Amino acid sequence: MITVEGLTRTYGGFTAVDDVSFVCRPGRVTGFLGPNGAGKTTTMRVLVGLTPPTRGRATIGGHLYRDLPNPGRHVGVLLDASAQHGGRTGREILTLGATAMGLPMSRVDEMLHLVSLTPDEASRRLRHFSLGMKQRLGIAHALLGDPQVLILDEPANGLDPAGIRWMRGLLKGYADRGGTVLLSSHLLHEVEQIADEMILIGHGRIVAQGDKKTLLESQRATRTATTTVVSLDNARLAEALRARGLQVTPGPDALAVACEAVEVGRVAAEHQVVLVDLRSVESGLEDLFLELTSTTQREGHRPGPPGYRPQGPPQGPPQGPPQGPPAYRPQPGAPR
Ligand SMILES: Nc1ncnc2c1ncn2[C@@H]1O[C@H](COP(=O)(O)OP(=O)(O)OP(=O)(O)O)[C@@H](O)[C@H]1O
Ligand SMILES: [Mg+2]
Repeated sequence: MITVEGLTRTYGGFTAVDDVSFVCRPGRVTGFLGPNGAGKTTTMRVLVGLTPPTRGRATIGGHLYRDLPNPGRHVGVLLDASAQHGGRTGREILTLGATAMGLPMSRVDEMLHLVSLTPDEASRRLRHFSLGMKQRLGIAHALLGDPQVLILDEPANGLDPAGIRWMRGLLKGYADRGGTVLLSSHLLHEVEQIADEMILIGHGRIVAQGDKKTLLESQRATRTATTTVVSLDNARLAEALRARGLQVTPGPDALAVACEAVEVGRVAAEHQVVLVDLRSVESGLEDLFLELTSTTQREGHRPGPPGYRPQGPPQGPPQGPPQGPPAYRPQPGAPR
């Protein structure tokens, strides 16, 4: 169990973490989400005693990290996979960890096997490791002492798709066996798949938290429904929908309409316009994230209708697969 109570950390006049409170429970994976500079790493650093808090407390199993005897046996930590001596081999790094924690040397091979680092790779110096290899070694190091709690900062960073899937299974299995996992990430769709609980942070403040299902449902309840529609005569359909007082955003192939799909279907039937595709756009975690942290986005993102993907190079956190029809792209100059 991780407990953070009224945690504040300031640097001079700047508040990096502002009165943050949350709990991570055993048997659950908790995702910690927020834009760059939101305060995720700072919170995690306070949790493991690397940064003193200005106010508040962060405990693991009721204890401050520094009061834990042999902390690696209780808490596995991965904050920065490169924060190891670059001249040591992967095997040496794990061997030193196992020695410090009083573990049998057989744990080193077990962990190398678990994270799929080959003996040849493990014999290379860390400075020659690829990003994903460093990340795998960091996960091996965090799990070495068979801890009950894992604190992982962007653990999927640098992992290939197979590695991300592997890590998802690993962490889910770990939580199913009663472990507590706190992981930060920018990979929203990954977190959506892996986390049971979510904490969303922006500008050092928590903007939403709770179990994933409830958060997403509350998001849906407060949004206007959006439908995308493709017909044989989009211009006529758009005109008819607007005449009904509905907001229509045209794209090259589809229209986005701010209402339920059934309403669009009715208007199309009345005007005898043949529909080719009609679907409700589900708003997901990405919309919730962008909406709640919109004032802290560097890109000045203003949320559009759910599923609406602006054209041009990706901005802000990585974009997942489009939720609307693949062909739907807003027209230049369409409201964003
Ligand atoms: N030692 C420090 N001195 C001054 N400012 C700091 C220090 N450490 C962190 N900050 C500031 O605190 C804020 C939060 O940083 P933090 O690293 O916690 O963000 P983050 O949410 O982990 O971001 P990212 O997603 O980019 O990793 C940032 O504005 C950062 O510049
Ligand atoms: Mg960070």
